[in-house]
Amino acid sequence: MTVGIVIGSTRPGRVGGQIGAWMAGRVGSDGDLIDLVEQGLPLLDEPEHASTGRYAHAHTRRWSERVAGCDALVFVTPEYNSSFPASLKNALDFLYHEWRGKPVGVVAYGGISSGGRAAQSLLPVLVHLGMVPVGTLLVRFRNHLTDGRFVSSDALNADADDLLDTIRKASKPVARR
Ligand SMILES: Cc1cc2nc3c(=O)[nH]c(=O)nc-3n(C[C@H](O)[C@H](O)[C@H](O)COP(=O)(O)O)c2cc1C
Repeated sequence: MTVGIVIGSTRPGRVGGQIGAWMAGRVGSDGDLIDLVEQGLPLLDEPEHASTGRYAHAHTRRWSERVAGCDALVFVTPEYNSSFPASLKNALDFLYHEWRGKPVGVVAYGGISSGGRAAQSLLPVLVHLGMVPVGTLLVRFRNHLTDGRFVSSDALNADADDLLDTIRKASKPVARR
């Protein structure tokens, strides 16, 4: 199975790239690290709702294919003004069927609340899109900075692995009796 790890921050100098790379490292060979900067999505410019699946633009079709190729997703999101960033909301709004039914984990980070409010505001959007949230990991990244670089700990690695384990279990088809 392929687990897409989406870096939700697009800000120059962002921490998100390092946290996304760390998560991708925990996922291993079945991970697909997806950087929204590289996707190059403009603010939503599709004339039709994504539920139609009719996409006018090549950037949307490219984004659609990338997400459709994932069996599950992990959103790595910072907290901006008590929510998750507009870059991530925009990327979510571009698609519809590609998200549906997929298990999803949230890795949130930020200042004083460690990204808790970002996760809380993201979850209803994921549910609206028909995704299946299985867990949230809050990362107090300032406790993990060494010379300005994000360095995980054994405890944080274990929490990430637990989340990924839950995602993988949720992705397996339920055995029929
Ligand atoms: C526009 C903006 C708003 C922010 N608002 C919050 C906030 O509400 N709560 C919080 O804990 N941190 C907040 N922060 C701090 C960010 O969580 C922190 O800078 C983090 O590094 C941002 O992630 P990034 O570096 O991947 O973009 C904010 C940062 C920015 C740039």
